[in-house]
Parts: sequence; C-alpha cells; structure tokens
Amino acid sequence: MAAQPAIKLENLTKAYENHLAVQDLNICVQPGEIFGFLGANGAGKTTTMKMMVGLLPPTSGRVIIQGHDVWQNPEPAKRTIGYVPDTPILHELLTAREFLWFMADLYGLSRSEGRARAEELLELMDLTPHGDRLIRDFSLGMKRKMAIATALLHRPQVLLLDEVTNGLDARAAREVKDLIKAWAREGVAVVLTTHILSIAEELSDRIGLIHRGRLIAEGTAAELAEQAGIPGANLEESFLALTGDPLPAEVTEGELQ
Ligand SMILES: Nc1ncnc2c1ncn2[C@@H]1O[C@H](COP(=O)(O)OP(=O)(O)OP(=O)(O)O)[C@@H](O)[C@H]1O
Ligand SMILES: [Mg+2]
Repeated sequence: MAAQPAIKLENLTKAYENHLAVQDLNICVQPGEIFGFLGANGAGKTTTMKMMVGLLPPTSGRVIIQGHDVWQNPEPAKRTIGYVPDTPILHELLTAREFLWFMADLYGLSRSEGRARAEELLELMDLTPHGDRLIRDFSLGMKRKMAIATALLHRPQVLLLDEVTNGLDARAAREVKDLIKAWAREGVAVVLTTHILSIAEELSDRIGLIHRGRLIAEGTAAELAEQAGIPGANLEESFLALTGDPLPAEVTEGELQ
C-alpha cells in the first residue's frame, strides 16, 4: 500500500469574483518528494499556495496535509506546514533575533527551545552577525533569509516555498537549494514555485505545470517534454510549448508577416 501523501489537493478551485484563478486542481506530493509548481505570471501558483497554507479559503475542493483537512481541521495541519510567502511579512521594528523568538512563541515552542532554535536558524541562514539588527534595515535577500528561518522554526514536514530564491545572491541560492535537497532526504515534502527553470529542473522530482488555473501537465522534465510533443527537449522548451496559447483563429500567417 502506498504511504499517505504528505499533501493532497482535491478538486481545488478558487474564484475571485467572476474570475476562476484556480480550477479543479488534483495534486499529490509524497513525503520526501520535491514538487516543482511552475506556470506563467498569473497562472494561479500563489493563489494555490495560500489555499494550501490556510490563508485563502477555497471556493471548492479540499487541501489535505498529513491527513488533516486544512480548512476543516486547521490546527494539526498548520503545525506541520512551513510557508515562505512570495512577499515575506516581517515585523520591521524587531531585531532578527526578537522576531524569531516571537514567532517561536506563536508556534508554541518553550522559551528555551525557541531561543536555541532561533540561534540555530540564524546560523543556518548566515545571519548570526546581524541577529541584533532591526529587520527594517535588512536587504531584500536578508529579509528572504529571515522568512526561510521563520518557516523552519517548528521543524515542518511540509514546506511550501513561493519563489524562495528571489533576491538571494548566488551563494545563498546555492545553499538554499542544497538545504531543500537535504530536507527532502529527511522526508520533508516540498512544493516550490520558481520562474528559474534551471532551479526547477535541478531540484524537482516531479513538476506540475499550471496554465490559466488548470494543471495542464505533470511529470518529470523528460515526461513533460513527451507531453509537449518534443521528446528530449529541455524544461524551458517544454514550458514554452505547453504554455504558449495558439494564435487566435482570425490572425492568419499573412497578417503576421
Ligand atoms: N486578491 C485577488 N483578487 C482578485 N484577483 C486576484 C487576487 N489575487 C490574485 N488574483 C488573480 O488570480 C490569478 C492568479 O494569480 P496568482 O498570484 O495566483 O498567480 P501566480 O501564478 O502566483 O503568478 P506569479 O508568477 O506572477 O507570481 C491572476 O489572474 C491574478 O490577477
Ligand atoms: Mg505568485
């Protein structure tokens, strides 16, 4: 019997007013698996992530995390999720160290555990020398590192990473990619969005391609190339082929020339 998936999306749908941003998504991610969630700007990735983490109510469908329905039974589901949002929200007037203590407290870690974990994560993110500086004075990449540290405080088994390497320098991005691989080896299920297809290709065990709110292809990079009808193509070629809408019928070749 297959193990229980760490993440299961069932017919997940979100309508904003009359616009269907996400339609009927069905996705499973197993423990230890890295799932690359790719799509063009506005395809529905962030909307899906926010529904998965319990921030945005779905119009219909379900999100099951480690067997718990995020919307019916949020507490145990949320305890197991670490989320790095595309736009991190941090308390600018706290120091890095204070913010991690504050968040550890919200997660229910004891004071000593929270403090020890904060030091570990500052070290992991190369922020130890900046621990007593106000977050307000951090660079973009330093704020992103703080968001990653915060998402890891409670040792989540499911990590949802929305454009996690945005703003990171080359070395930090390399380190974060290696960390993601290490977490997956320890059994953490990871969903990551990125527009950098080389990152998706390197890290993902499986890729899901979302286009105008629908999952239009799923599989390894090689399987996506098959689905695009261009076997052997790289991920960029498959992405462009699968997400390129055909020209409207009324535009003829003659008009284009
Ligand atoms: N709060 C909102 N109200 C109305 N429409 C929204 C809202 N948030 C997102 N949308 C719309 O939903 C669609 C999906 O947006 P979403 O942010 O999920 O895309 P994305 O795949 O994350 O894109 P990107 O790669 O640019 O981050 C877009 O058409 C967007 O305009
Ligand atoms: Mg987004």
